Amino acid sequence: MTKKKPLVVVTRKLPEAIETRMMELFDARLNIDDAIMSKQELIDAVKQADVLVPTVTDKIDAAVLAHAGPNLRLIANFGTGVDHVDLQTARSRGITVTNTPDVLTEDTADMTMALILSVSRRLAEGERVIRKGDWAGWGPTLMLGHRIWGKRLGIVGMGRIGRALARRAKGFGLSVHYHNRRRVHPDTEEELDATYWESLDQMLAHVDIVSVNCPHTPATYHLLSARRLKLMQPHAILVNTARGEIVDEPALIRMLSDGEIAGAGLDVFEHEPAVSPKLLELQNAVLLPHMGSATIEGRVDMGEKVLINIKTFVDGHTPPDRVIEGLL
Ligand code: 8YV
Repeated sequence: MTKKKPLVVVTRKLPEAIETRMMELFDARLNIDDAIMSKQELIDAVKQADVLVPTVTDKIDAAVLAHAGPNLRLIANFGTGVDHVDLQTARSRGITVTNTPDVLTEDTADMTMALILSVSRRLAEGERVIRKGDWAGWGPTLMLGHRIWGKRLGIVGMGRIGRALARRAKGFGLSVHYHNRRRVHPDTEEELDATYWESLDQMLAHVDIVSVNCPHTPATYHLLSARRLKLMQPHAILVNTARGEIVDEPALIRMLSDGEIAGAGLDVFEHEPAVSPKLLELQNAVLLPHMGSATIEGRVDMGEKVLINIKTFVDGHTPPDRVIEGLL
């Protein structure tokens, strides 16, 4: 008798190669139309599935998990951030959670660097000038931005993406500063030429560019509070490719409007996909629709990780990317 394949419910459309393999390996229920699932649909999914594959757009909170059927043993997230999953409730119900680290590190670091350049050198603004037909020709004082070479970059969160950003920043002539819960290994500090700041407050007051690269957890919610944002210098810019919730967005918008900081590059928002209309009006903000890991290669690699995590788990082993709350 052949063993029944596990029922894997995938909440969003994934790259074709991943969906094909998903169907070969498992009894996969795919979302071909890619419509975001309602709360009721998520509840129905956790009731039936052996494995759930959600993404950042699915809120797998305690209310959803309360309906989890006895078969649901694994939540194999497509993505590294797991702040949309109630990890404590999952743990208390004996559900393992996995994610997809490493494979999106370089792409997200690239996007962070792109935002630093876009804001400093006014790329989006310049593009708008051309598209609106407003360009009357070159001028010595036209569209002046700020040089990034020789400036100070402060990285909030020196994990995988923070370190990949630091490597890039060095090549662009930035000096690298960082704040992290734990100081990184001296060899890493040396390799990255990075200066550690135990005090986030002091680092914020010292740097020209702030990049948010830590995970969103209960401890980092509004880590960049109104008080902390006010410590930044008026010429400084802030870039966020992590999670919107880490920054007090209304406070950031007020400061951008009042010229208390010079600019912001945001790939993520506190209530995405909703973007504050006030942000849309600001010329000194570059806004992207959560594109940090959006490369074809990255998304296939993320899917591969999901497949490996599920396969290892259903074969009775510890999946390689098991999320351990305390280590986030
Ligand atoms: C993903 C991300 O695309 O992996 C993450 O944490 O923020 C994104 O790059 C998204 O989360 C997929 O669920």
